[in-house]
Amino acid sequence: MHETQRKRIIDRHRDSLTRHGYHPHALYWSNREIQEIRFRVLAEIGIVTGDSVLDVGCGFADFSDWAAHTGRAVHYTGIDLSPDLIGVARERHPDLLLHIGELEDGGFEPASFDWVILSGSLNEQLHDGGAYARRMFLQMYTLCRNGVAFNLLNARHVQAHDLQSLMPDEVLAFCQSITPRCKLIQGYLPIDFTVYLYREGKA
Ligand SMILES: C[S@@+](CC[C@H](N)C(=O)[O-])C[C@H]1O[C@@H](n2cnc3c(N)ncnc32)[C@H](O)[C@@H]1O
Repeated sequence: MHETQRKRIIDRHRDSLTRHGYHPHALYWSNREIQEIRFRVLAEIGIVTGDSVLDVGCGFADFSDWAAHTGRAVHYTGIDLSPDLIGVARERHPDLLLHIGELEDGGFEPASFDWVILSGSLNEQLHDGGAYARRMFLQMYTLCRNGVAFNLLNARHVQAHDLQSLMPDEVLAFCQSITPRCKLIQGYLPIDFTVYLYREGKA
């Protein structure tokens, strides 16, 4: 990602954190329920107690709380571009592995995690026709042993100058070029879709 785009994302979250503190609004989610619906759909890829999970764009690492409260005690690692959000996440979760940055910075070995998930972290408009997002899908797949689950805004229902939204069928077709073991999930929220990519034998 270009340095200017990275700075814009960091600055936007610094500003939202100053305004809202620890709250879904600081992550640009409208409320906790909407955030957790997305978590549920991601987890339904097959995440269970004992699994390791890398959360890309983890924000406050809220997925780890949600997973624990819903009976999934996972080994959680988070990475986020925002040092401010990671600062809060570290205060709330001193036990977790939480990194500042993006996957393209490197640092993780292939097949390091059972599952790699992403919720809302590709909703920032990068004006690249989805090229960065496609690189993320590939990198996430490289890092997983079982599979990848991510959500995106649906371009059929969201068209905003400052938000990235993509067409579900086009994203699915790209993911099928990574692996034929893909699944598109729709209908859980009007503006959103989720894609699962599985390693062989893990679906
Ligand atoms: C909508 S928030 C969601 C946070 C978290 N996934 C959740 O649902 O609670 C998006 C997060 O992605 C982070 N982010 C955006 N682009 C990113 C990237 N390329 N790599 C890592 N983090 C990113 C932002 O800093 C922000 O914390």
